[in-house]
Amino acid sequence: MDVIIASDEQEAGRIAAAHIAHAIRGIDEPVLGVATGSSPLSTYEDLARRVKEGSLDFSKARAFALDEYVGIPADNPLSYADTIRTTVTEPLGFDPANVRTPDGMANDIAAGAKEYDEAIQGAGGIDVQILGIGNNGHIGFNEPGSSLVSRTRQICLTRETREANARYFSDPADVPTHAVSQGLGTIMEARKVVLVALGEQKAAAIAAACEGPLGAHCPATLLQMHPNATIIVDEAAAGELRRADYFRDVQRLLPESQRIPD
Ligand code: PGA
Repeated sequence: MDVIIASDEQEAGRIAAAHIAHAIRGIDEPVLGVATGSSPLSTYEDLARRVKEGSLDFSKARAFALDEYVGIPADNPLSYADTIRTTVTEPLGFDPANVRTPDGMANDIAAGAKEYDEAIQGAGGIDVQILGIGNNGHIGFNEPGSSLVSRTRQICLTRETREANARYFSDPADVPTHAVSQGLGTIMEARKVVLVALGEQKAAAIAAACEGPLGAHCPATLLQMHPNATIIVDEAAAGELRRADYFRDVQRLLPESQRIPD
């Protein structure tokens, strides 16, 4: 995996957007995997800037969100469907008909999750999957202990995830206990993965993901097995990387021909 240490959130977003733009260049109807949370916001802002400047166009692109809470309807601003609408669909100019989120209100969650996985495959798979990482090393809502080959399914959220997400809810008791998330096997099928992590609260998870032993205790470690994963962190999130100097060298010494154009 490539690890890129950015100076701050804005630079992380610019680098992530450059990687995404590069990965979908020349693809007529690209398929993006999109994440909620605070980590990808500066990436979405930079993508929106590129759309405004005319160098990117998502009008024919499709998007599949990573996850959704169980029990929060799509028209509720706390739902991930609504969050994706306001942070991705509208600012980046996606056709809303081309953007999907797992159904956390389905009568049969398992059947809906299976159909979601099939829809991703039916769209030809995901060209670029955008990810954040949880303080506990989760990606999507694949909590520690998730099967490394899991598919889209219902998951019980850990206490630390519910606590981390309580900031969005007026009453912490309202944070849902369950979510539907793309599985680790689903995420691993994306042709490229771009993970953004910001802040010192992510430093331990990033060190484990990039340098730790692979295992379900830290689902993000699975990205070590992905052939095209780029991890973009700010200085604070890089704080516990033992090989930070090496990662900086790799980027500094990258041959011109392998540099991603800005
Ligand atoms: P955050 O969430 O981007 O809001 O930190 C990431 C995650 O929990 O996966």
